Amino acid sequence: MNVEKLRADFPALKKWVYLDNAFVGLMPKQVKAGYDEFVQRWMNFDVEGTKTILGEWLEKAAKVRGMIGDFIGAKAKEIVFTTCTGSGLNIVINGTSWEKGDNVVFPEWEHNPMDTTTLRRNGVEVRSQEVREGRTELADLEKLVDDRTRLVQVSQVGYINGFRPDLKGVAGIAHEHGARVLVDSTQAVGALVIDVKKEGVDYVSAAPYKYLMGPAGLAFLYVKSEHIGDLEPDRVGWKNQIWAGDHAEEPIDFTESAEKFEYGTIHFQGVYALEKSLEYLNRIGMDAVERRVLDLSGYLWDSAHDMGKRMYTPPDTKSPVVSFFEENAPEVAAKLMMEGVKVTGREAHGGHIRTAPHFYNTKTDIDALFKKYWDIVS
Ligand SMILES: Cc1ncc(COP(=O)(O)O)c(C=O)c1O
Repeated sequence: MNVEKLRADFPALKKWVYLDNAFVGLMPKQVKAGYDEFVQRWMNFDVEGTKTILGEWLEKAAKVRGMIGDFIGAKAKEIVFTTCTGSGLNIVINGTSWEKGDNVVFPEWEHNPMDTTTLRRNGVEVRSQEVREGRTELADLEKLVDDRTRLVQVSQVGYINGFRPDLKGVAGIAHEHGARVLVDSTQAVGALVIDVKKEGVDYVSAAPYKYLMGPAGLAFLYVKSEHIGDLEPDRVGWKNQIWAGDHAEEPIDFTESAEKFEYGTIHFQGVYALEKSLEYLNRIGMDAVERRVLDLSGYLWDSAHDMGKRMYTPPDTKSPVVSFFEENAPEVAAKLMMEGVKVTGREAHGGHIRTAPHFYNTKTDIDALFKKYWDIVS
């Protein structure tokens, strides 16, 4: 990987030591070109033959659904475009048929915990799993899951300290009781190699504006093919039902394609941008991206630890996100920002500084962060 050459694709790197990809990733020129292409074609009504512009957008969406599938080890028909991670999670919650007394389980620090009105209205119990010393344990999960558990929700990479639960282990416990696993992969996709089949999970919701480097306002949900038929669309519109005479017909095979959850016009400009993002990362290769991200985050963890910081990220965690405890963390992060270094500083969940490198970062960036950091705190 020629990092120096790749860095030239990110104008923001001229100005920033940017180590905050868990917040928002930086956009390379190529992703902007995707946005521009959409606008240019629309503005000039640049269509081929008798194809409508909407026809072209829909074709692009179909192509990019396939690219997402390839990217995460799924089939095109298992991918549906959504607006954000939460939107995908709600599709699963609202589309599941609940019975009073069912329950769902999630760690207490989920970013978008699925404690929803749908669950309350249906008399579904919400069980939260305790987080201890920055991690969740399978043994604790085992005590919470029973034969009335329908969903276990978990983030592939925790947004607070990057903790990575053993997804296969979670799936094993859930499936033993007939429950399904709903994963939030927003802090993982674009940084780590994802293979939904290998992990054995049922649903994955993710947004691309972090390590996929854009767009925002478009996200996707993976629905395992076996579940497409029994998960009901919670919203309808022209794209998933057509009225013929006095009844609605289904223009998409409701047992076959997760596209049935797309009920209207989607964020097509984002689809053009996402195509470029996926092409960009595929060109580098996700194995190489993951290796580099983990090498940098390992260096970050060691640097902070060796300087005596109390680490929030457990020692054995191989994750894009590294956090350490810090008093007045928001103030420290604000001062770093004034010095051109971007990280996140949070008061919640125990004051901490959260860092998250991507492939375009260097060890020099990390050394610069800590040099500025010590100037500020000492
Ligand atoms: C784990 C995780 N999930 C989801 C999101 C964002 O949610 P949404 O895409 O619904 O805005 C974030 C944002 O920081 C996150 O860290």
